[in-house]
Amino acid sequence: MPEFDLAIRGGTVVTAADTMKADIGIRDGRIVALSASVTGAAREIDATGLLVLPGGIDSHVHISQYQGPDISMADDFASATAAAAAGGNTCVMPFALQQRGTSLRQCVEEYRALAEGRCIIDTAFHLIISDPTPEVLGQELPALVKDGYTSFKVFMTYDDLVLNDRQLLEVFDVARREQALVMVHCEGYDAIRYMTERLERAGQTRPFFHAASRPQVVEREAAHRAISHAELVDVPIVIVHVSGREAMEQVRWAQQRGLKIYAETCPQYITLTAEDLDGLNMEGAKYVCSPPPRDADSQAAIWEGLTQGVFQTFSSDHCPFRYDAVDGKLNPKARTSFRWVPNGIPGVETRLPILFSEGVSKGRISLQTFVALTATNHARLYGLYPQKGSIGVGFDADITLWDPAKRETIRQEILHHGADYTPWEGFAVTGWPVMTLSRGVVVAEDGKVTGAAGHGQILSRDISDFARPRGL
Ligand code: URP
Ligand code: ZN
Ligand code: ZN
Ligand code: ZN
Repeated sequence: MPEFDLAIRGGTVVTAADTMKADIGIRDGRIVALSASVTGAAREIDATGLLVLPGGIDSHVHISQYQGPDISMADDFASATAAAAAGGNTCVMPFALQQRGTSLRQCVEEYRALAEGRCIIDTAFHLIISDPTPEVLGQELPALVKDGYTSFKVFMTYDDLVLNDRQLLEVFDVARREQALVMVHCEGYDAIRYMTERLERAGQTRPFFHAASRPQVVEREAAHRAISHAELVDVPIVIVHVSGREAMEQVRWAQQRGLKIYAETCPQYITLTAEDLDGLNMEGAKYVCSPPPRDADSQAAIWEGLTQGVFQTFSSDHCPFRYDAVDGKLNPKARTSFRWVPNGIPGVETRLPILFSEGVSKGRISLQTFVALTATNHARLYGLYPQKGSIGVGFDADITLWDPAKRETIRQEILHHGADYTPWEGFAVTGWPVMTLSRGVVVAEDGKVTGAAGHGQILSRDISDFARPRGL
């Protein structure tokens, strides 16, 4: 009997702490050896000339999330996890969304049923709380946290999701008690409504005006309010999808005061600007997401945040809609106003190449920072560490072989997601994933998805150290 099922040999292993020439031995889906030379495996993969990275963890994706009766998301669990695997990821974290007037527990069970048997890589769910009733706050949430759903997202905007300040405080209070981590979508609802109505009265309804309806001040105000509420309650929170300088500065200010405020940013905020929403006809709708991409100064600020440690995670916020479809970006109402364009862009497959190319290949960030921002910190923040998030003995064999020199041009035709476009069509990158292993099984290789639906598991998560209040 060979000692290992699989050995990955001759590569350069990268973790958030080190870069080393090492071989990896894998047995029963886990890493059981990491040393200068591993022999005696049933099968060997030659990683000469390649980086051996912890598989990407994307802790912010939307998959099969209910959008109302007329709009549908372009990915189900099969296509989203296929795209994720092809893009070098081994774990994605979507959201089980509570619809108002329904039980959170029931929503979670229904969402699990959508994922069961369909995933190619592992997944773990956050919860979206839209209706924090006494039942939800008092019974459902504490029980769900104990079942391994240890993080929630709350929204400060969107008609069907927005919580008022009192409700935010109540959710924060439960999170503090249960030591769950709250992700906050920071944009002010009333300010957006006011701006939207003003723009519509002036006939400014093209997708371009989506950005004007929620300028940076709207995000900055909400970020400050969320941070203040978190300080009052004494609970750590994550400010998700930080888009620009003003919100980044709020986070940095809070961190400098010693508050446990964590933050996430995304590829769109280092590569796109509000000008991209200004396409001919409805083309700008392809870039409509919230918060919107900003400008060159904000891109520079996001890089400051990435290099100075303001941001812990770099996620895709993958939220795919078909462009040329009546249930997507070009739904009939969307042509009457930006207000009706579904918010979100696809990106789970392109997140890692974009950050590697713009960050590592261009000399802005180290390999260690890349791994921390794309894998390790996601696992640590959300309670998947030390099962996932690094390469070492005992970790799941979730590994991406990466060719740092490979040049590729991002095009819709090479991607695996369910959307019919990519916002990065024609974007040239240096550095590309060439093989993805999920628990020791090759699930993607050279742009082909080889993994089987049902290999991916739905994970339950631990309480995270990062969710511990300051006062405890
Ligand atoms: O526009 C976006 N980001 N859509 C996805 C939902 C969210 O707010 O993250
Ligand atoms: Zn959001
Ligand atoms: Zn999102
Ligand atoms: Zn399997």
